[in-house]
Amino acid sequence: MKAVILSGGFGTRMRPLTYTTPKPLLPILNKPMIRHVIEQLPDPVDEVILAANYKIDMLRDYFEEAEVGLPVRVVDEPKPLGTGGAVKNVEEYLDETFFVINSDIISSIDLDEYLEFYKSKEAVGAISAWEVDNPEEFGIFELNGKNKILRFQEKPEPWEAFSNTINAGHYILEPEVLDMIPPGEKVSMEDEIFPLLVDDGLYGFEFQGYWVDCGRPSSFFEATETLLDYIGEENLIGDRSFVEGEVKENTVVGVDCTVGKSTISRSILFDGVEIDNGCTIENSIIGYDAIIEDDVTVKDSIISDNTYLEDGQEIVGKKIKPDEVD
Ligand code: GDD
Ligand code: MG
Repeated sequence: MKAVILSGGFGTRMRPLTYTTPKPLLPILNKPMIRHVIEQLPDPVDEVILAANYKIDMLRDYFEEAEVGLPVRVVDEPKPLGTGGAVKNVEEYLDETFFVINSDIISSIDLDEYLEFYKSKEAVGAISAWEVDNPEEFGIFELNGKNKILRFQEKPEPWEAFSNTINAGHYILEPEVLDMIPPGEKVSMEDEIFPLLVDDGLYGFEFQGYWVDCGRPSSFFEATETLLDYIGEENLIGDRSFVEGEVKENTVVGVDCTVGKSTISRSILFDGVEIDNGCTIENSIIGYDAIIEDDVTVKDSIISDNTYLEDGQEIVGKKIKPDEVD
């Protein structure tokens, strides 16, 4: 069985970090988010197909080096084709029931159970289901008592939201669904295909535990907190990192970082960050290899890779872009 992982898109909500790193490779607990997804795949999956375009070479390089326990085929999409077009673009590798999974989801879903659920239904497809308070940011659907999806709508206006049950981003589909997608065109699975599948047998699989879409800065922190909580740690310090100051709860320090006599709280430092003395870093993400000199305050901000912040600056509520981006 194959698992297609949707790994394209520009990750605009995660800018400025995604100017230099494709969203699937942004680290959650010092591991690319896509790797959390791959490690969750059940035994029947024997190959991962990455449907990618933006910064595809970085994805290729990562999977050439990393040992993820499964063969990963990175397939180029000549231009972003949307979630439906992306799956159509890898059709040649799909000849039986397959998974499609968003690369930015951190969750406790049991994909083996999901597959068993799917097999027990007369279905052409299934969507994982989660309950939220803000359904307008997602795709929503209504289920009947037998978990059959009665209607599906992507990103409803708040007043249109007929349900709090959202598409949690894991699909099981039959190859015949691909016949509904025109080749080479930009097609949204959620807008254009799911509403059409409702009459053919589309089911929703509910699960317990946790679920976070890490594609927004706020949820990037939420995913970090959720996973730290899950492993029972207050914070995480990466290998070969040296910390003299104070690292408070819900903070992740990447590998090869140096932190002087400074205080870091509810923040995420990517690998290779240097923070000197007297700094306060709060509720912020600091990109790869950034250097922060003495007595700098960074609050509620996102700092790009390789940024250099001189002594004494105050950065509050800002997104600092990389030098090469206007
Ligand atoms: N290959 C490819 N090509 N992948 C893409 C493209 C594309 O053109 N556009 C987006 N993707 C990938 C993203 O990398 C992500 O893994 C996934 O498709 C979904 O795109 P997002 O941009 O993250 O969508 P979203 O978060 O706004 O909404 C989607 O996910 C929600 C759950 O988190 C929808 O599927 C919603 O219905 C769903 O509720
Ligand atoms: Mg998303």
